[in-house]
Amino acid sequence: MKGVILAGGMGSRLDPMTRVTNKHLLPVYDKPMIYYPIECLVNAGITDIMVVTGGNKAGDFLELLGDGRELGVSGLHYTYQKGAGGIAHALGLTKEFVDGDKIVVILGDNIIEKNIRKPVADFFTQRKGAKILLKEVPDPQRFGVADVDDDGKVLSIVEKPSQPKSNLAVVGIYMFDNQIFDIISTLKPSDRGELEITDVNNTYIDQGTMTADILDGWWTDAGTIESWNRANRLIEKTGANNE
Ligand code: G1P
Repeated sequence: MKGVILAGGMGSRLDPMTRVTNKHLLPVYDKPMIYYPIECLVNAGITDIMVVTGGNKAGDFLELLGDGRELGVSGLHYTYQKGAGGIAHALGLTKEFVDGDKIVVILGDNIIEKNIRKPVADFFTQRKGAKILLKEVPDPQRFGVADVDDDGKVLSIVEKPSQPKSNLAVVGIYMFDNQIFDIISTLKPSDRGELEITDVNNTYIDQGTMTADILDGWWTDAGTIESWNRANRLIEKTGANNE
């Protein structure tokens, strides 16, 4: 399986810190933000990784990460997303790198306490489809939110609902089979002009090939001032990407 880290975007929710650098290069506790998703993938045995970045500081990723070997990456690849086309558009740029394989995708500002070894191993043996990870949160309106039946089966996902049907947010870590590239080619831009990852996930749900697990340990994004501060505090307390 291959790994993809999405590290583009304008980082406008962290302005003015993101005026002179990419959000994913900002420090979180004692490391640049991008180290955490890389460690998360490497911990799960995924070491062939593509970073999708954008904006005008893209060269800084190469300067910081080089060939990635220091972080345990065996092959580090980079590509560039022009403009703000959305998560699903950024994923579409990785098709040749992925080359028919399955993928584990992580949003570059998502940080977790533990590891995803078990769900990744389960997805490795899943014949087809996709897997998402869910986590209970106090503020589901900020995220993609899952509507789940009594057996834990996901019925649908709604992106940033004003009236969430549950408090189960969709974590920014996704596993997809190679169908994803066909699905992306059918997507239409949302009201905010982006190709939405939630539309990809709902396509797999409609096909009946989506599985979902509850993530073990804490999860936070670090894309707003509040969540960036929370990430710093959580990592100080417990560390991230633990065994
Ligand atoms: C994105 C996804 C959302 C997901 C979240 C996780 O939102 O669209 O479904 O729950 O990441 O961090 P964004 O942070 O890009 O607004």
